[in-house]
Amino acid sequence: MVRQGKLLEVQDLQKNYGKKNNITKALNGVSFDVLPGEFLGIMGPSGSGKTTLLNCIATIIKPTSGRVLLHGKNISAFDSKDLAEYRGSRIGFLFQDFELLDNLTGQENILLPLSIHGVDFAKARAKLDELAGFLEITDILHKFPSQMSGGQKQRVAAARCFITDPDIVLADEPTGALDTRSARTLMNKLEGMNRTSGRTILMVSHDPNAASFCSRILFIQDGVIFHELRRKHDETREKFYERILQVLAQLGGGSANVL
Ligand SMILES: Nc1ncnc2c1ncn2[C@@H]1O[C@H](COP(=O)(O)OP(=O)(O)OP(=O)(O)O)[C@@H](O)[C@H]1O
Ligand SMILES: [Mg+2]
Repeated sequence: MVRQGKLLEVQDLQKNYGKKNNITKALNGVSFDVLPGEFLGIMGPSGSGKTTLLNCIATIIKPTSGRVLLHGKNISAFDSKDLAEYRGSRIGFLFQDFELLDNLTGQENILLPLSIHGVDFAKARAKLDELAGFLEITDILHKFPSQMSGGQKQRVAAARCFITDPDIVLADEPTGALDTRSARTLMNKLEGMNRTSGRTILMVSHDPNAASFCSRILFIQDGVIFHELRRKHDETREKFYERILQVLAQLGGGSANVL
C-alpha cells in the first residue's frame, strides 16, 4: 500500500480533570502518529486514559495541552466550518453501546449523516447497498434497533460510521457489549474494511482477541504510552494474539485479565 504522509499526529497530549488539590492526570504526554491505511489499536487498563484520548481526538473534550493534527493541520485551530466538517465527515465514531437512534430504522440511522450533508439520494442508496452487503445487514435494514441483536446493531453503527467516507474511524471498545461470536464477526468486518478498502481505524479495546485484528498496538498506562507491538507481515492473528498476551502478562503481575 502506498503511504503518503501522516494522517493523524498526536503530540504530547495532556488532559487533567478536576481542580487544584483534586487533579486526575488522565493523559500525561501522549504522542503517536497514525498513517493512512493503518488499523491501530490502543490497549490499557481501566482508567488508563483511552476514552479520554479518543474524545480529545474527536473534539468531544479539549486537551489541557498538546496538539492533534489531521493532515498536518491543528484541529484546535479549526474555525466553526472546518470543525463541523471534521466532526461530520472527516472522522467517524463507533461507540461501545452503538448509540443508534431508537425511533429510526437501521437504514434511516445509516443514511442520517448523509441526509444531514445533503448527499444525492441515488448516490447514498448505492453506498448503502454496498456497505450493507459487506456488513451483512441488508435483511435487517428495515428493523428498529430494539428489534436487532447486539451484533447487528453494531454492524449498523459501523455502516453509519463508514458511509461518510471518513479519513479515520475512532472506535471505543466496539466489541465491549458483544458476545464472543458477534465480536469476532464485527472484527472480521472491520479488518475487511481496513484491508480491502484501505480504511484507517483507531480502536481502543481491553480485549486481546479484538486487538489481535490490528496491524499495530500501542499500550497505555497511567496516561502514557509504554509499549508498541507491530504485527509482522506474515504473522498469523493467532501468533500476534500470543504476543499481546505476553505484554499484558508483564503488565499486571502475571495476569492477562488485568485490562
Ligand atoms: N469527566 C471526568 N472527570 C474527572 N475524572 C475523569 C473524567 N473522565 C475520566 N476521568 C478520569 O480520568 C482517568 C482516565 O479515564 P478514561 O475514561 O479515559 O479511562 P479508560 O482508559 O477509557 O478506562 P475504561 O477502560 O474503564 O473505559 C480515570 O482515572 C478517570 O477516573
Ligand atoms: Mg473507556
